Amino acid sequence: MQNLVILGSTGSIGTQTLEVIDKLNGFNIFALSAGKNIELLKKQIEKYKPEIVCIQDEKDIKELKNYNVKVLFAKEGLMELANDEKADIFVVATSTTVSVEAVIAAIKNKKKIALANKETLVMAGDIVMKTAKENNVSIIPIDSEHSAILQCLNNLENEYAKRLWITASGGPFLNNSRDEMQNFKAKDALNHPKWNMGKKITVDCSTLVNKGLEVIEAHHLFDFDYDNIKVVIHPQSIVHSFVEFVDGSFLAQMGVASMHIPIQYALTYPSRFEGIKTDSFNPIGKNLEFLEPDLEKFPLLKLAINCGKQGGIMPAIYNAANETAVYKFLNNQINFLDIEKIVFETVENTNNITNPTLEEIFEIDKKIRKDLAFIAE
Ligand SMILES: NC(=O)c1ccc[n+]([C@@H]2O[C@H](COP(=O)([O-])OP(=O)(O)OC[C@H]3O[C@@H](n4cnc5c(N)ncnc54)[C@H](OP(=O)(O)O)[C@@H]3O)[C@@H](O)[C@H]2O)c1
Repeated sequence: MQNLVILGSTGSIGTQTLEVIDKLNGFNIFALSAGKNIELLKKQIEKYKPEIVCIQDEKDIKELKNYNVKVLFAKEGLMELANDEKADIFVVATSTTVSVEAVIAAIKNKKKIALANKETLVMAGDIVMKTAKENNVSIIPIDSEHSAILQCLNNLENEYAKRLWITASGGPFLNNSRDEMQNFKAKDALNHPKWNMGKKITVDCSTLVNKGLEVIEAHHLFDFDYDNIKVVIHPQSIVHSFVEFVDGSFLAQMGVASMHIPIQYALTYPSRFEGIKTDSFNPIGKNLEFLEPDLEKFPLLKLAINCGKQGGIMPAIYNAANETAVYKFLNNQINFLDIEKIVFETVENTNNITNPTLEEIFEIDKKIRKDLAFIAE
């Protein structure tokens, strides 16, 4: 039995991880962490009986006083989980940057990491991957695109892989003009044609920021140069990504658009189990389209890749500015196209630091959020 910790158990990936666990043998829910959704956490405690939970605010501890569970809180609590010798596997499904230090600590403690959270590699990819290498820890991606690439590379040496092709559905505004996009509200951006996800990542899909963050993640996870990572629009979301090999072969991973499959694969890697039943995929009659992304219409994709290429603190700057702008948009404080204005201005007005320490990365992250008056939901 492996002791599982789910960071962000009340979110979209967190709840789907628990659904996967319901149908999988060999895992014990050892600890759960949540933000502010204490009502859902209570239900999860009743069902899964974890030994420990970690919540965002100390003031909510009183809500859990009648439950037979140890309660930790905030980043210090996440750090305590990372250092708990009983924990075996961490599913990192928190949004934002709250778990980055805890993930690094868990890697140092040689825990297995199943990673959904994008900010970990976007902000601190060099540090995270170096720490993983030094400690001989594999970071198994949960993101469907990176899971697809991992599956295509499985049992093969990376030396034969020439290029990574990351697919993008194109989001809800694929066929809209920029004039139309200017007037879109949060409800329009949250209306994703293929995937059901948390709000922040769904807005990131509508700007193609999500794809930019995924390119940065792929660069770190698979040690590929940015010039050998290609984004392709694939509106059907059937091919979750593919790998081009030196002999001209392409391997693709396909299936229904369900996060249950990559979540389960990350937990059981490299084995496969029947597990949770998703709708079965039938390739007959399916048309697959692959289109060049329109970088004029979605300039934040190009900017993300440029920030990734520059390295240093640039990806963290991009990430903090974007997250701030997305929450402002979700709170109806700015228009849709203001998101890119804020991100471009912030990136252009901040100087890079090469080979930053984790402290320097967090310092700039904090400064940008403060300067842009970050208001989370
Ligand atoms: N959803 C997807 O299909 C998907 C796919 C690939 C990658 N990802 C990535 O996976 C991560 C999670 O995405 P999601 O869609 O599952 O997000 P989500 O639904 O918004 O869930 C986020 C989780 O993080 C918790 N959380 C947020 N802020 C916190 C804080 N300050 N302290 C402690 N916990 C906090 C939330 O707690 P409360 O809800 O209790 O406040 C919730 O459990 C993101 O980085 C996303 O980019 C998601």
